[in-house]
Amino acid sequence: MKWIIYFFTFLSFGLNSQSQETALLPKINGPRLYGARPGKIFTYTIPATGAEPLKYEVLNLPKGVKVNKKNGVISGVIKAPGEYVINLVAQNQFGKTSKSFTLVIGDKLALTPPMGWSSWYSFGRNVTLDKVIRSAQIMKEKGLQKYGWSVIEIDDPWTNQPAKNDPIWEKLKLKADGVYGYYEGPDNLPERVGSVRNSKGELIPNKFFTNIKKFPAIMHEMGFKAGIYSSPGPLTCGGVAGSYGYEFVDAKFFADSGFDYLKYDWCSYGSLAKNNSKEELIKPFRLMSDALQAQKRDIVHALCQYGMGNVWEWGNESGGQLWRTEGDVHDSWQSVRNAFKKLSDKAVYVKPGNWNDPDILQIGAVGAQSSGKAGKNHLTFEEQRTVMSMWCMLSAPLLIGADMEQLDDATLSLLTNEEIIAVNQDALGKAASLVKTSDNTEFWTKEMEDGSLVLGLLNLSNEERNVKFPFSFLQLDGSQKLRNLWTKVDLGTFKDEFETAIPAHGIVMLQLRKSN
Ligand code: GLA
Repeated sequence: MKWIIYFFTFLSFGLNSQSQETALLPKINGPRLYGARPGKIFTYTIPATGAEPLKYEVLNLPKGVKVNKKNGVISGVIKAPGEYVINLVAQNQFGKTSKSFTLVIGDKLALTPPMGWSSWYSFGRNVTLDKVIRSAQIMKEKGLQKYGWSVIEIDDPWTNQPAKNDPIWEKLKLKADGVYGYYEGPDNLPERVGSVRNSKGELIPNKFFTNIKKFPAIMHEMGFKAGIYSSPGPLTCGGVAGSYGYEFVDAKFFADSGFDYLKYDWCSYGSLAKNNSKEELIKPFRLMSDALQAQKRDIVHALCQYGMGNVWEWGNESGGQLWRTEGDVHDSWQSVRNAFKKLSDKAVYVKPGNWNDPDILQIGAVGAQSSGKAGKNHLTFEEQRTVMSMWCMLSAPLLIGADMEQLDDATLSLLTNEEIIAVNQDALGKAASLVKTSDNTEFWTKEMEDGSLVLGLLNLSNEERNVKFPFSFLQLDGSQKLRNLWTKVDLGTFKDEFETAIPAHGIVMLQLRKSN
């Protein structure tokens, strides 16, 4: 008996140590390209896993661009448009790896969906600069950056709220029905009441964000990008100052401070728009895009207007790179299900630089937007896995909503599977579509650049089920080689069908390749 135990202990130790060894080797994750505008400052951090310290090198770097060998941050300016093929190299005491990478210098940003973290669901309106910086530090400590999580976005409310007697409140009240979201009138944030602009017309941060101008440099030093939030209206959804009438001043303020990403949230602009025509909907976003493009650094423009006027049809014309397709999601199955179901037939609007955004990921400890404090997620673990899977398949922007202080290993495992993330960051930039529904199971497929197909088998029922999937459902003929992307296991070659168990509201993500 004893030797059997020894044998199995040895076997499992052997297997573990093998995967531990692979984990020590350097591996470069992330997309295979990055887009920037000619003559604009850009940064890209090489996301790589493996034992620390890792050393980075880039071969064939064009003039004007440099790499920081210690943290893998590539930064600089390239004047001439074109495609620059470079070679990323990461090395540690266990080995060396390299990856071909293309800097695409042209008129497009966000050639793959932005990835990062937003303060909204972890801190809500109790956000402070210190809490955001602490969150970024934890993301770094936990290794999330090594998988491509890069933007740290300060959401609402970082500016001041106008005083109660400010005429703006009366002005906006006239059409208050059109005001979307969390607007609650002049008394909701007493600690953040104050002057909204200085003598230069610049936004004044509230007392929890006094050092806002230093934030981008702190993020860049850590290898992150800095994200900020504003509204085309005079007030944000939280009821603090927005950018109305100061679009160019604010764009310059953001760029000069070093911000890389702006979430621009409709909110009180609803009181000013003349009607719901496409022209009126597009106007404030086009204005901000023009203001951003006039600056010396690239700033990704994330439209937030909850899907009004079928934004996916014209978001591209606004000059933005991504657009929310829906109102705010929260951690209930119905909410996340609606958010991704709505995109089942909208893949046609998605391409590199143009992303449908079903909102922030409801994974981990969230909920501060309503309760003021993030806590237990009301989705099951498998439902949270479905969220990550569907957002990746839909090529949706990936913004983590979770409170980093409460990050547990299970949540971390959902955010650090490089094969799942690679589906999201695929350079072809296609989004998944719902191709078949049968017996309470949905079949979503996404085409990948390498010719493979990613299939999401989604079990909509409330219990675990065995699902049979005949290849004829997808008009596939011949044998298929299957890989399970979450478990990273090659399942083998299958001729006509495949059968698998799927948890309640869970998903199995397979990569299919034609077998010769
Ligand atoms: C709106 C947006 C949210 C968040 C809040 C902030 O509701 O949709 O994502 O930014 O405003 O007040």
